This record gives sequence, C-alpha cells and structure tokens, in this order.
Amino acid sequence: MMTFPKDFLWGGATAANQLEGAYNVDGRGLSIDDAIPGGKERMSIVQSPKFDWKINPKYTYPNHKGIDHYHHYKEDIALFAEMGFKAYRFSISWSRIFPQGDEVLPNEKGIAFYNDVIDECLKYGIQPVITLSHYELPLHLAKQYGGWKNKQLIKLFKHYAETVINRFGNKVKYWLTFNEINSAASFPFMSQGMIAKTGANNKKNVFQAWHNQFVASAYAVKAAHNMNPKIQVGNMIIYATTYAYDSNPINQLAAVKFNQDFNYYCADVQVRGKYPSYSESLYRHYGFTGADLDRTQEELSLLKQYHVDFLSFSYYMSGVKEVTGKVDEKASGNMLGGTKNPFLKESEWGWQIDPTGLRIALDELYDRYQVPLFIVENGLGAKDNVNSDGKINDDYRINYLKSHIQAIQGAINDGVPVMGYTPWSCIDLVSASTGEMSKRYGFIYVDMDDEGHGTFARSKKKSFAWYKQVISSNGLNLSTENIDY
Ligand code: BG6
Repeated sequence: MMTFPKDFLWGGATAANQLEGAYNVDGRGLSIDDAIPGGKERMSIVQSPKFDWKINPKYTYPNHKGIDHYHHYKEDIALFAEMGFKAYRFSISWSRIFPQGDEVLPNEKGIAFYNDVIDECLKYGIQPVITLSHYELPLHLAKQYGGWKNKQLIKLFKHYAETVINRFGNKVKYWLTFNEINSAASFPFMSQGMIAKTGANNKKNVFQAWHNQFVASAYAVKAAHNMNPKIQVGNMIIYATTYAYDSNPINQLAAVKFNQDFNYYCADVQVRGKYPSYSESLYRHYGFTGADLDRTQEELSLLKQYHVDFLSFSYYMSGVKEVTGKVDEKASGNMLGGTKNPFLKESEWGWQIDPTGLRIALDELYDRYQVPLFIVENGLGAKDNVNSDGKINDDYRINYLKSHIQAIQGAINDGVPVMGYTPWSCIDLVSASTGEMSKRYGFIYVDMDDEGHGTFARSKKKSFAWYKQVISSNGLNLSTENIDY
C-alpha cells in the first residue's frame, strides 16, 4: 500500500459567512448570505417567487454572529495548530474588502483582518488555502446588478481578486476561485446571487452566469500567476459519484448525462480551458443554444490560457440515477438528493454515506483531467452530546472520517496525485443548507445553539485527539483504540 506523500496537506476547512460573524463590524458591507434566514425553511424561503433579499425581522439570521471567529481567530487557529494542521482552508468575505462590491478602494480594516489571519496561520507553519468566493457576494451586487448573470460582475470580481492576490500573494500559495461552482445547477441563489425575481429559474441565465464566473476565475488565475508564478489556483466543484440504478442501458445513459450536466460541465471549462463537446446538446435540453449566450472570442481565449492548476472538490455523498420509474425512496442531500441507495447508510440528515464513492471520484476525476486533486470538503454533520464531564465522544464522526481517509489512501495507491484533505468543518459552525448550529461537523465544539444562544466557548471533541494522531503519523495511524482523550 502506498503511503500519503510527505508534503500532504492535512487540515480543515471553513467559510467566512458561516463562521466569522461580525457582519457589520469594521466597515464590512452586507453580503447575500446576511439576507438568507436560518432554519430548515431557509432554502424554500430563498427559492420563493416573493423573496427579495430584504432582511425580515420575523426570521433569525445566525450567520450575523456565526461563531464569532472574527474575535476568536487566534484561539481557533491555535487549536488547529495543536492538531498539527498543515493547511487551513477559509474564505475571504468579498464585502469585508469591498462593502458594496463596486468601490475602487478597498476597506483597509478588512484587509488588515485577513492579513492577521494569514500571519497567525503562518506563525504555526499552516498554509492558508483561500477561497475567493464561498457562497457569497456583496448584497448590493445581487440587488442592483442582478447577480452573476450581469457581465459587469466580471470586472468587479477581477478588481477584488487582483486586490487580495496582490496584497497576500507573497504569503499565500494556494487559492480557490468559486466554491462548489456547479451547485448553481440546483441552487443559483447562493453561488450566483440570483433569485426568482432576477431570473434564477431561467436556465439560460444560470449558464450565462457560469460563463461570467469562468472568465472571472480565469482573471484570478492570471493575476496570481503574474504576481508569483509559484501560486497555484484551483477551481472547486461539488462532486457526487453517480451510479446508474441498474444495468438497464437507459439508466446507464441517465448517469452519463447527469455527470455531464452536474459533475463535469464547469470543471471541463475551468480545467481544460474550453467548452466540452456535449455543451450544445445540454443547452438544447434546456431550451436555448450556445448562440444565445454572450461569449466573446477574447473571453474564450482567456479561458484557454488561464485554466486552473489543480482541481479541488467537496465530497459528502454519492447519488443514484434512474429513468425507469421503479424507485420509490428518495434520499436527501446538500444540493443533490435523488434515489436512495440500498447498499448505503445515511447521516441523521439523510445524506448517503459512501467512502468507496470517494475513491471512485478520485480515480475518475484524475483519469479525466490529469491534474492534481485536492479534497477540500468532506465530513459528517451530526448532533453532538456534551457529557457531564464536558467530553464529547463523537465516534460516529471518527468512523466516517476514517473510512474516507482509507478511501483516499486507496486512490493514492491507484496512482492518483492527491494534494491534501481539509475536512469540513474543522470547527462547528452554522450549516449552509439549513442554517442550524446543531448540525455539527467540527473537531472543536462551540457552545452555541440554533437560536444563537451560548457562551461561544470552544472545547475539544474526541475526534480532535484522533485527527491529531492521524496527522502526526501522516495517515498511517487511523486506529480508534487508545485515543489520548
Ligand atoms: C458544502 C458547502 O456544500 O457543504 C459548505 O460548501 C457547507 O458551505 C457544507 O456547509 C455542508 O453542508 P451543510 O448544509 O450541512 O452545512
């Protein structure tokens, strides 16, 4: 069995909107996520035809406080260092740098905050991995410009990306452009800042917005490579290994089509630098043609020249496709769901748990793209109980992570170059799909409930001690016996 490479980037991942809080502090402007309420109804509220980005006092907005990482970042990063992190993936909130999104000069207090976060990581030898846009953009750009379908956002994002890359590019080697860019296939609200009123339900707008994001992403690659040729920029997709329901060829074809539509379309453009051969057939399926999209020759050349250096992805679950109509049970999931797989267990939130699917993902993605792969999200959302002695025995989370790390090792053995693994989320934070605190992913427990009440105190779960052991042994010791907790 091959072992993990010496420079493997073990770490953890978070996102600004779900952990920083301090949503109106030090000149930060509102971001779209500040206007999306928390709770299980979150997605249906934002998808409703009436939704208009107004903050409504009848709802709660948990990310306004997050876990107050803005004021706890030193303590949090010290805990990541104690686990031995080699990398920490976090995102920059665009509206902390450009409060409205269309200013010329940045908010220096926002720059100073991220400069301090980066320095704090480097102090412990932790490599920052920065996402430029994780499910947020300045609210003003969604309200006044209509979100990413508007081509003006390309130049505004270019200015934002150039600003932060020029300020931090001498210290930060790894950058990601848009988080789970392909998730707009089902949820354009968060990743493209578009709602029903601004055309989110029209597929042509989603594809135009993607094109604009591809070009904006290429500008970020250009800025990074010009600033420092050692910088590596990745795209970021949500990947769901997809099985056909059975050997019926029409179900097999459904799985192929789903892969093109959901898993591959964005990555094909961002990694290979050109639109895939099946594009026109996909557009026809949605009732328009490529000629309906506004794509200039100059933009297409830019995509070709400034494709990404590596591919990063989140992996939580696999999916099943069928068109024969025999299947009755549906699974739930972050942006996916679909038919239930009888061979798999599921999380408390109904997400199908499939570590082998991660090995398949790594093998398939490397076969297709031939660039290094980085797993920048993977984890188990679960309810945790704090015992009377303050301990949290989260063996279910350890077992989930262990089986996925074994799958990564299998893929490395298959010859796949895997750069690193940053599980979601290294510290408890507000859930993206439901806005809940009780759906916890962290190695570090944060004392806060779904209503935002609590002391914000941090404490170590059993998985903290286990992950520390995994990292110090470079993935050799995954044992769950004799954990020092
Ligand atoms: C990914 C997102 O889809 O899944 C994260 O990039 C998100 O932002 C994570 O938090 C887990 O999803 P959820 O809905 O359980 O928070």
